[in-house]
Amino acid sequence: MTPAPAATASANTNIALIKYWGKADESLTIPTASSLSLTLGGTRTTTTVSFDDGADGADAVTINGAAPGGTARARVTRFLDLVRARAGLTAAASVVSSSVVPLAAGLASSAAGFAALAAAASRAAGMDLDDRALSRLARRGSGSAARSVFGGLVLWNAGVDDATSYAEPVVVDGADEPGGAGLDPAMVVIVLSEERKTIGSTEAMRATMRTSPLYPAWVEAGREDLRAALAAVRERDLPRLGEVVEANALGMHAAMIASRPSIMYWLPRTIEALHAVRAVREEGLPAWATIDAGPNVKVLTRGADAHAVVAALRDRLPGAAMTVRRPGGGVRVEGVAR
Ligand code: DP6
Repeated sequence: MTPAPAATASANTNIALIKYWGKADESLTIPTASSLSLTLGGTRTTTTVSFDDGADGADAVTINGAAPGGTARARVTRFLDLVRARAGLTAAASVVSSSVVPLAAGLASSAAGFAALAAAASRAAGMDLDDRALSRLARRGSGSAARSVFGGLVLWNAGVDDATSYAEPVVVDGADEPGGAGLDPAMVVIVLSEERKTIGSTEAMRATMRTSPLYPAWVEAGREDLRAALAAVRERDLPRLGEVVEANALGMHAAMIASRPSIMYWLPRTIEALHAVRAVREEGLPAWATIDAGPNVKVLTRGADAHAVVAALRDRLPGAAMTVRRPGGGVRVEGVAR
């Protein structure tokens, strides 16, 4: 018997500028609306997969040195089942994954995790998917993972079915020229709390859709937000992009907070950070806040001004950890070994 090949792939996390929150089809992860994101450099998760019968015929999963239990493990196995079904395999797999940023550091971990897993598992299963097919596959693991297949600014077209729901890069001339005529986007990640979230995003989006009277209004406004954001990107108008980015995220949280019972990811420090970002902006620096399914705040800024923004925020938020992240690349297959 020939040994099963092991494939290794990596992917960066991404932060949504125009958010994905809600599924039109849960089993296929078709979102209710399209979203726009920035892939962040230096946030890679690297994953090795081999369909080698796993441990005692069950999938053996190791994430950052530990075996995940419960839902986390079940999600990986369910995803591997999908890959096995497509490739006509039955063997259990060994999966070893590690990320350079700690899972609790306030960065979306499922996006990088499932993008890297999709690339490594499909290669290990003998499939050679193009980027669009890989994005569609990653989407089935976690919606935001569809976007981590690509680097820089990325648009996830909501689509209407499995074939039409995929991400693609938003190509802007000079978008990554530091300080130049380009958009030069960067993110300051402010970690206010490393506690695990109280309610996972899958469940929280389900509850928001079902019970928040504000949800339909947010989705409706989001369509115009996306149009405005894409126009701002084309015109390399960071202030215009920043304004719509902050408004879209606050609208998403308003919809969550209006759920019954309320879903509130914010801590008192989250609101302090929102005020700090506003104050820094009023001083004339480019800074706009966005928040995901947790208490931490990410600040969209211009790469050339990122360190000035960090300094101004530090004065107002003593003790908060801040990291500057610049645009990063997409999925990388690191190797296939027999
Ligand atoms: C708030 O992609 O984690 O970060 O598809 O259920 O796995 P599932 O959800 P996930 O949700 C991300 C939500 C968000 C906004 C975004 O990234 O667009």
